[in-house]
Amino acid sequence: MRLSRRVAALAVAFGTMFATVACSGSEEPGEGTKKVEVFTWWADGGEKAGLDGLVGVFKTDCADYEFLNGAVAGGAGSNAKQVLASRLQQNDPPDTFQAHAGAELSDYINDDQLEDLSAQYTEWGLTNAFPKGLIDNLTVGGKIYSVPANIHRANVLWSNKTVLAKAGITKDATTLDGFFADLDKLKAAGVAAPLALGKDWTQQMLFEALLISKLGPEKFNGLWNGSTPWTGAEMTAAINDYKRLLTYTNKDRDTFDWTDAEKLLMDGKAAYQLMGDWEAADLDAKGFKDYGWSVFPGNGNVFQWLADSFVLPKGAKNADGTKCWLKTVGSATGQAAFNQKKGSIPARTDVGTDGFPAYQQAAMADWKTATQVPSCPHGSACAQTWQGAVGSAQGKFSSDGDVAALQTALASAAAEFGPKK
Ligand code: BGC
Repeated sequence: MRLSRRVAALAVAFGTMFATVACSGSEEPGEGTKKVEVFTWWADGGEKAGLDGLVGVFKTDCADYEFLNGAVAGGAGSNAKQVLASRLQQNDPPDTFQAHAGAELSDYINDDQLEDLSAQYTEWGLTNAFPKGLIDNLTVGGKIYSVPANIHRANVLWSNKTVLAKAGITKDATTLDGFFADLDKLKAAGVAAPLALGKDWTQQMLFEALLISKLGPEKFNGLWNGSTPWTGAEMTAAINDYKRLLTYTNKDRDTFDWTDAEKLLMDGKAAYQLMGDWEAADLDAKGFKDYGWSVFPGNGNVFQWLADSFVLPKGAKNADGTKCWLKTVGSATGQAAFNQKKGSIPARTDVGTDGFPAYQQAAMADWKTATQVPSCPHGSACAQTWQGAVGSAQGKFSSDGDVAALQTALASAAAEFGPKK
């Protein structure tokens, strides 16, 4: 694996923040290039398997072009987004990049960094292929700026079946109280840190899952649209429960990516991990079969969604090649090949369940009936600035456990970056 000169320079610039860059070739794209540089953070495991599935279809459907892998490793784009921001600032965009539907995408649109794809939607027959709510999340001012690849679910609790069985846990908890009781059983059975956890954004996910249980979907949505205050007794109680939840997690959490926490689960050192359903694909890719899943206890019939989508940045070197990539991403064949390996479900409504693993078949059924709520760490609920502020507040809380300070910081973040009244 070789690094392109530009990416290597950025790797140095980002120092230890920068994990891995996977490039399929050493040449950089230039004028008249056939290469399409696809920028993602899908560098390993199930994420890479999903990307490979999509690339397979691209190779067939877009034989005139060549895929150039611009992946920057690091869960949820923790490294990739910084590299991308720097490249966009220097007017050096990749041909296409991964962006979450919702507020995160709006950031790029508002900064005038993306081309309008409305004409392609009409040309490729995409306008009615996706659910209307999703299209609304990709549209600003009547124009549509990206092609969604999938729908992921964030609020899933993964488990190691053997560890649960050894502690005598035979049923999934459906309430927070039940979950705390199971965590206590696991501790009593000698599992010191039964709930595996990682750093910043993974902590945001755990906190959000808990908030959905504590507040219910309507009030949870209100946190992002401004109708639910971050101040007040209900939020204080939720933070106290979150503080209690942290006592069941590994102490080195702040140094862990989601895959490090996942390893604790696979090694039987932990019983549970709250993580998006890319974990299903990753466990499958790693050959770990002894896993179970349930919705996070107390979340009921809530589907916390997020969607990866691809864009055509202004100034892309190979706009025609990118359009072919985007057409592949939006096609039924592309969505089947990608999602079967990625743990997510197709964003298109006309892709059948055949060929999908059991987890995704269940998710496809849930998606049709569940109450939907968005996710801040995965861009559907909040802009990157807001996410950054929540992330720092939770990072601080992870070491000092100061409930009042976390609540004040969350309320200030909402006042500064949330919707203005
Ligand atoms: C992305 C997923 C990815 C996950 C972990 C999320 O933000 O939407 O595609 O698998 O991060 O890296």
